[in-house]
Amino acid sequence: MPRGYAETYRRALECPEEFWAEAAEAIDWERRWERVLDASRPPFYRWFPGARLNTCWNALDRHVAAGRGERMALIWDSPVTGQILRFTYRELRDEVARLAGALAGLGVVMGDRVLIYMPMVPEAAFAMLACARIGAIHSVVFGGFAAHELATRIDDAKPRVILSASCGIEVNRIIPYKPLLDAAIVEASAKPEHCVILQRPMCQAELVGGRDHDWYELAAAARPADCVPVLATDPLYILYTSGTTGVPKGVVRDNGGHAVALHWSLRNIYGVHPNEVFWTASDVGWVVGHSYIVYAPLLLGCTTVMYEGKPVGTPDAGAFWRVIEQHRVRVFFTAPTAFRAIKREDPDGLLIRGRDLGEFRALFLAGERADPPTVAWAEEQLGIPVIDHWWQTETGWPIAANCLGIEPLPVKHGSATRAVPGWDVRVLDAEAKGARRELAPGEIGALAVKLPLPPGALPTLWQADDKFVAAYLSAFPGFYQTADAGLIDGDGYIHVMTRTDDIINVAAHRLSTGEIEEVLAAHPDVAECAVIGVADALKGQVPLGLLVLKAGVVRPAGEVEREAMQLVRDRIGPVASFKTALVVAGLPKTRSGKILRGTMRKIAEGEDYPLPATIDDPAILVEIARVLGTAGYAAR
Ligand code: COA
Ligand code: AMP
Repeated sequence: MPRGYAETYRRALECPEEFWAEAAEAIDWERRWERVLDASRPPFYRWFPGARLNTCWNALDRHVAAGRGERMALIWDSPVTGQILRFTYRELRDEVARLAGALAGLGVVMGDRVLIYMPMVPEAAFAMLACARIGAIHSVVFGGFAAHELATRIDDAKPRVILSASCGIEVNRIIPYKPLLDAAIVEASAKPEHCVILQRPMCQAELVGGRDHDWYELAAAARPADCVPVLATDPLYILYTSGTTGVPKGVVRDNGGHAVALHWSLRNIYGVHPNEVFWTASDVGWVVGHSYIVYAPLLLGCTTVMYEGKPVGTPDAGAFWRVIEQHRVRVFFTAPTAFRAIKREDPDGLLIRGRDLGEFRALFLAGERADPPTVAWAEEQLGIPVIDHWWQTETGWPIAANCLGIEPLPVKHGSATRAVPGWDVRVLDAEAKGARRELAPGEIGALAVKLPLPPGALPTLWQADDKFVAAYLSAFPGFYQTADAGLIDGDGYIHVMTRTDDIINVAAHRLSTGEIEEVLAAHPDVAECAVIGVADALKGQVPLGLLVLKAGVVRPAGEVEREAMQLVRDRIGPVASFKTALVVAGLPKTRSGKILRGTMRKIAEGEDYPLPATIDDPAILVEIARVLGTAGYAAR
């Protein structure tokens, strides 16, 4: 008899080894584990130690070996190029095996890092799977990051090879990637031995003799490589995410726990079955793309859709409905910001009418808080369950969700529903760091997860165990600190409110205001600065920079503001959406010198702001309110 949510949740918590060993039966192992969980070295935990498997085998070859080679594995839908390509499991396996052979031919061996800086083309998925095939560790960098961000990741991961493309396409603009890659390699200290460049027809990149190779020439000449078994605990990939400074955190994902958790999650959370079409509209540069464009759907034997386009503008706000109808998508996952963009252009859902969305069963939203009006609009327009679920790059798969594959629970707008089986979520008193004081239902505090984390969550940061402990495990001993604040209500529903650090969420992209401040502070005319995240109707939040100029600087403020915005675009990338910098006379501070960022955010968002008792000079705050008001921010 199928178990309901409460029973499944209880089993996963009370008998985690039994629970996950059972889930692991869905994966092909070359050698089975010695123990399900190694808890001998807390706070470090390892799932399935001693076991050996190959993730690419599990995602591709085993489906072919089981006679499912002619099933559709990947559909690439690219409105920006007007193309749709389809790959069966056999075809995808062959593409990946050839590329893996090409990498092996360049000297890539198990444990080597390979950096992937690619737009949303099928070759990006081939590249990830090719690395997995030969036991190399991939690190995908999102295409919207600038050369400097790429360079910091190159220096941390030290890749032997970089895979990239001549360009990406942003709606109707060609974005050449190769100049960014070349600049990053010049800036980085760790130089790759080889670059493999996919030449897209709309833009030919210049290749550097001796270092750069043409993707298709190299793959065509390569001998297909077989899958290399690796330890379950060996890294599959490193994915960098914003930390609180300019140095990103290299989140590590292992092979074994990842395969088990993702396979389990697609069935049990998303309610998807093998052979169904599952679509995630995100980018392979983010964890959502890693988990739910590439790995989970293929591990389960589904058809995954890879979409090179936007929710609006490619060509219109009906693009999603066209894709869902055309490819018979059953379950779709995207970010709330995409729905806000659609709602803005097509508030009455006119572009939905006339589409046959009969197969469409559920919509999942994550990456940022799903605001209730957007969820309600989607429910009304689509007439299917709209599921807000909460997770992070670090966790790799959802912490809280309405598990459609187990037992759908009533939806509460503003909540990501309940903890997913495997995740023991608690609300702790944020003021009692170093200790543990659990809060009562309904009280807001730090959302934390009791250790050990389930399979698939990060085991550590790349070559930085100390940083891993300091960043996530030391605030509340025995717990993983999510850095999100929220509450669990009387029904066990989790409500995620805000970050407790300086991370802001811009169009479901995670950015550090501290990092933007570091860039601004490097401007020669800037003495001091502060960056705050301000509510935005489309993107959720956008960064706003306040700049204090050095004494004696007489240039027009507008000039410095424009340079500051360009600097952020050049150093971090267009993805930062840093479109407002304002020169101010001073920054409001407490008497101990702490910048009152929270108060400035309240002013910019038009909220009431009580004057902090500890404020040093209230006149500065009055001046800030005036400047923000003049710039269109509703100061009260
Ligand atoms: N390569 C190069 N540039 C990129 C890029 C990429 N892969 N992705 C985004 N950019 C650029 C955009 O062109 C834009 O540049 P601009 O400032 O010159 O206009 C900038 O980065 C900001 O991009 P974005 O935040 O995507 O804003 P947008 O205004 O182009 O589109 C949305 C707004 C809401 C339609 C868009 O953000 C969206 O679809 N978001 C979905 C988010 C998502 O999937 N997140 C993944 C986590 S679940
Ligand atoms: P990322 O690591 O880029 O996936 O960003 C993770 C962060 O996004 C989380 O720590 C949250 O702050 C935010 N987030 C993701 N999903 C949700 C959600 N469903 N509700 C609220 N916040 C979310």
